[in-house]
Amino acid sequence: MKAIRIHSHGGPEVMRFEEIDLPPPGPGEARIRHTAIALNFSDINVRRGGFYRKEPLPMPIILGNEAAGVVTALGPGVDGVATGDRVGYCGTGSNFWANTGAYAEERNVPADRLVKLPGSVTDQQAAATMLKGLTASSVVNRIFRPKPGDTVLIHAAASGVGLLLAQWSKHFGATVIGTVGSAEKAKIAREHGCDHTILYRETDFVPAVKAIVPGGVSAVFDGVGLDTFEKSLDCMAPFAMIVNYGNASGHVPPLDILKLSLKGSLSVNRPGVSTFLGEPARFRRLCAELFDAVASGILKTTAIRTYALADAAQAHRDAEAAKHAGPVVLLP
Ligand SMILES: NC(=O)c1ccc[n+]([C@@H]2O[C@H](COP(=O)([O-])OP(=O)(O)OC[C@H]3O[C@@H](n4cnc5c(N)ncnc54)[C@H](OP(=O)(O)O)[C@@H]3O)[C@@H](O)[C@H]2O)c1
Repeated sequence: MKAIRIHSHGGPEVMRFEEIDLPPPGPGEARIRHTAIALNFSDINVRRGGFYRKEPLPMPIILGNEAAGVVTALGPGVDGVATGDRVGYCGTGSNFWANTGAYAEERNVPADRLVKLPGSVTDQQAAATMLKGLTASSVVNRIFRPKPGDTVLIHAAASGVGLLLAQWSKHFGATVIGTVGSAEKAKIAREHGCDHTILYRETDFVPAVKAIVPGGVSAVFDGVGLDTFEKSLDCMAPFAMIVNYGNASGHVPPLDILKLSLKGSLSVNRPGVSTFLGEPARFRRLCAELFDAVASGILKTTAIRTYALADAAQAHRDAEAAKHAGPVVLLP
């Protein structure tokens, strides 16, 4: 079978589409023939190196943590899934830089990390929404639930996670302000729940937010990090919360918590989705909730962009250049 491997950390040029032998599934494993593979920003961080780690990873590695597909074989001792089942998975139970391997035509996965896909959700929808949707779910269902009367500011609102946060926040009745990198992204963000959009590369977003909501926003959902975190504190109402769930522009530097008092008793949260996913039964329950939200139309997935698996390096280039809106799915 063929897979995208890296033999050293670096730019997209280190990604190679190579022929690889896959052993039969071991005890507790199921073999999956992938039909849709997610591109997540964590894959870019693993490829670049230095993703919460100082040492390089043991090479070579197949990139990727998340995919959907069909079970084609079972190792000893597997119950709960059968050959022919449509399934998805998102991580294999360890840190996201360890045990990667989704950028492949096939893969052996611990069977207890699989979730069966309902008929109402396509393989592409599953691959596009599990990690990004569960990240958004951890924010709006666990950390800060937007409600009528709230205004939330969502940075990079046309990103994979941003579009889901915008739709969920709107569904819960909040007014949604989204920052975006282009006019095309602004249109897509407005189609996915944003009431207002700000082109934050051309306009200082602090006065632009204050012009919309002079008293400040109730919450900021920030997946951009370095470029947006500090200034976001100046957009917030007293007692508001900022959730920094990602670092697309770089890590947020250490924060002097006294600033939170001086700027109005603010709160900061930094979620990690692996904590939220937890053990397998919890992952399956959260996926069921997420797939219900997709099937009922609360979360639209019309902005999915696809690339051939063989073109994964180009997909990484485009993601790093922030070229497009929405989630990216690789097709084997
Ligand atoms: N906490 C967790 O467990 C968790 C889980 C999933 C994802 N994440 C993180 O969440 C963030 C967003 O993920 P995603 O899947 O939504 O990503 P995405 O779809 O690739 O979007 C990232 C967006 O960030 C903006 N951006 C700003 N500065 C950028 C830069 N220097 N390079 C690239 N993009 C930049 C761009 O939007 P504009 O053009 O509009 O600026 C870009 O489209 C990532 O940092 C990811 O690692 C965290």
